[in-house]
Amino acid sequence: MTESAERGHWGSRIGFLLACAGSAIGLGNIWKFPYIAGENGGGIFVLIYLVCIFAVGIPIMVCEFAIGRSTQSSPVQAFDKLSGGSTGWKAVGVLGVLAAFVLLSFYSVVAGWAMHYVYLSFTRFGGATGAGAIGELFGAVFSNPGINLFWHLAFMGMTTAIVWGGVSGGIEKASRIMMPALFLMLFILLAKALTMPGFGKAFVFVFSPDASKLTPAGVLEALGHSFFTLSLGMGAMMTYGSYMADDFDIVRSSVLISVLDTMVALLACLIMYPIIFSYGMNPQAGPGLVFKSMPIVFSQMPFGMAFSVVFFILLTFAALSSAISLLEVVTSYTIDNWGWGRHSATIIPAAVIFLFGVPSALSGSWLPATLPGGKNFFDSMDYLVSNWMMPLGGLFTALFVGFRMDVEVVKKEFASAKGLQPFFTGWFYTVKFVCPIAVTAVFLHMVGLF
Ligand code: PFF
Repeated sequence: MTESAERGHWGSRIGFLLACAGSAIGLGNIWKFPYIAGENGGGIFVLIYLVCIFAVGIPIMVCEFAIGRSTQSSPVQAFDKLSGGSTGWKAVGVLGVLAAFVLLSFYSVVAGWAMHYVYLSFTRFGGATGAGAIGELFGAVFSNPGINLFWHLAFMGMTTAIVWGGVSGGIEKASRIMMPALFLMLFILLAKALTMPGFGKAFVFVFSPDASKLTPAGVLEALGHSFFTLSLGMGAMMTYGSYMADDFDIVRSSVLISVLDTMVALLACLIMYPIIFSYGMNPQAGPGLVFKSMPIVFSQMPFGMAFSVVFFILLTFAALSSAISLLEVVTSYTIDNWGWGRHSATIIPAAVIFLFGVPSALSGSWLPATLPGGKNFFDSMDYLVSNWMMPLGGLFTALFVGFRMDVEVVKKEFASAKGLQPFFTGWFYTVKFVCPIAVTAVFLHMVGLF
């Protein structure tokens, strides 16, 4: 058997696309995007975000696919092979694996809240009525160690079960079920939102840019989020790319995945804002939009509990299809670098990630603000991944393809996009200069240097 035949591979192009879209579409689209767009003035933020996706996100996704496919290896080996054994570049691969490990440890805790809210929706939010009681319900969930640990374990268990099945038998199969279901649920909720009196106002809020609301911090936030939402900078797309056949078009795939991801983020706003506006609430509510504001509205609207169940299952599916890509980064590293079989390379890292996530699951209860800087464990991990690991991973990926990787290999990878050769030079210069400058700006802003 050849090396590539021993590795997992996608059964079909559509399966690959659904798995990548599943990785990209996650808590970032439904939980985070609507509140950061709300906080940053709506339309103008959306516009800047679209520019970031197209000018920076898509070019870097093409780089990740090119690195993964050309080496048919997980990130550490991929950088090793393409750099001719440089320890520094290998370290970039290691950074990606560590980032995926850390992100999954607390992503699973938030996903666990989504699962708990599916259950709570069935119980009509435990009988809580009125904005005050339902708002407090989230505080009670956040500060309950048992609930957090139970759902963190359940979510990691589901993630493990899928990755255990392998690339085509687990990840691809699950994506083929979850992604169409996710789109169906989105459209059910959109149909409801369209009938709400606040829809017009929400549409204007999302699509009419008001330049006076533009702030430098908003621009940088849009760029940072475009990385997170496209699953860039931590080896996920690289790993998925390494299971891809030679004839898959990496450029059109990147565009399609990004368009789907963006559509879901915008649909999430067009679902949540009309409901929020119709009940006189505010889209600038911050991180509590999904877990506090939406439940308050669901508890008041006709058939609200049914919509609530659909909404939180949607959130759970979105999180699960992203979490499997994070675990796969660690699993494929363990298979490629340590020579383990898939089953032990899935269950042992997953158990370690679960344990590493325990302090995050307990951050609202037993482990409140204790780390230097006054942040609790959960917030510190989020800070580490979003502000340091992802931007650095993205920056080095662009620099690697732009300046270190053999240009002939890069050209060959790009050539899988038939008919798009005239765009090669534009893409390559974007990767060499635009992406590094933009990412450096985000990075310096996020660590507070300007
Ligand atoms: N893109 C996911 C989201 O928007 O929630 C998060 C994510 C998944 C980031 C996988 C990075 C990754 F490797």
